Amino acid sequence: MDLYLARVEALGSRWGEFAVRDWFWQRLPGCERPAQFVATLGLGFEGANLDHGLRFEQLFERAGDAESAALVRLVTDEERSHVAFARLWLERFSGECSAQTFTDNLVAPLSPLVMRGPVIDREARRRATMPEALIDAIEQYRA
Ligand SMILES: [Fe+2]
Repeated sequence: MDLYLARVEALGSRWGEFAVRDWFWQRLPGCERPAQFVATLGLGFEGANLDHGLRFEQLFERAGDAESAALVRLVTDEERSHVAFARLWLERFSGECSAQTFTDNLVAPLSPLVMRGPVIDREARRRATMPEALIDAIEQYRA
């Protein structure tokens, strides 16, 4: 957060200047069990951040802002450990980390549809120890 704040300020803006939404934080209080929390936040939203991170990194690079691209890459690299943590704990709480246990533990009305970026970063998800079958299921999920 400090790095993001410093970058925003270096670019001439300040904290609070831009509207942000709390859509994702509004969903988490619906978690009643630890398995729901790790599925929804860790594998779901943080897993999607692996896809979004690559996308934003590429957008910054295309805009000629290598410093912001590097910062997004740093944060996305850290995000992998959060996804790996969720994978481990979904296994412990639910017996396995599969498409079924993941989907069963998402807080209603969330579905795998919102747990991915426009393009799946399969390599980042693999490096975060996400099972291949779960990556496939998230990629292929249709409402
Ligand atoms: Fe995270």
